[in-house]
Amino acid sequence: MSASDGGATARAETGVAGLDEMLGGGLPHGHVVLVTGLPGTGKTCLALQFLLEGARRGEKGVFLSLEEDVPQLVETARQFGWPIDAAMEQGLLKVVRLDPKETRQSLHRIQGELAHELEALGARRIVLDSVSLLNMLSDDEASRRSTLFALAAACRASGATTLLTAEADPRHPEVSRDGLSEYVADGVVVLGYRTATDGHRVGLALRILKMRRTSHIRSVQPYTIGPSGLMVDAKAVDLGR
Ligand SMILES: Nc1ncnc2c1ncn2[C@@H]1O[C@H](COP(=O)(O)OP(=O)(O)OP(=O)(O)O)[C@@H](O)[C@H]1O
Ligand SMILES: [Mg+2]
Repeated sequence: MSASDGGATARAETGVAGLDEMLGGGLPHGHVVLVTGLPGTGKTCLALQFLLEGARRGEKGVFLSLEEDVPQLVETARQFGWPIDAAMEQGLLKVVRLDPKETRQSLHRIQGELAHELEALGARRIVLDSVSLLNMLSDDEASRRSTLFALAAACRASGATTLLTAEADPRHPEVSRDGLSEYVADGVVVLGYRTATDGHRVGLALRILKMRRTSHIRSVQPYTIGPSGLMVDAKAVDLGR
């Protein structure tokens, strides 16, 4: 199973076998792509994998973390055997911790810092993990919306390919908690748990909900988080919903 757009669009490979196949090679260059999922579905791992794949290809990346501290993220990557130390030493990867406490009074700082980091690093790949906290700190929907739009615009303006993560709504795991990010993003990948008829979780599966300006596989495909990261079984029969 594969997707294709005739090969016209340049791609940023995610490094996740199977997912790149579903996307017809990778994320279209310059896209802002949202990855949603419940806790533990692998959003942070996927984001790291995406940046390490870029580093492997000599593309600079920046990981902006609103949730985990830098040592935790570095340790996660090390456990998967990804050469994060070398990538950071070579200046191919920068991991920046943004303090949530400061974030309340500094949505502007985040955007400023983002712009600064992009400028300093010449990042081709950007991750923000996660937008959920950012959204919780906005008082109303209008300010949430304007922050998200500004964020996406800054990322697009940089020419980088961006991956934003967001918590899924526990009651409706196919959509983000804020229900807004999907509209701002050019693409949406939903990570989720598969449940058996008795309601038990029996594994993980993902779906590409949207990906502007390219064709892609729409079916629900199983994936695993193994010793070397996420792996999607793009060949498995559509699990449906
Ligand atoms: N070294 C590893 N080997 C195998 N599986 C791992 C490894 N590290 C993490 N995992 C799996 O990945 C899961 C966590 O993934 P990750 O932190 O990316 O999820 P997340 O969607 O970002 O969660 P949260 O919403 O809590 O931030 C763990 O619960 C575990 O199942
Ligand atoms: Mg996470």
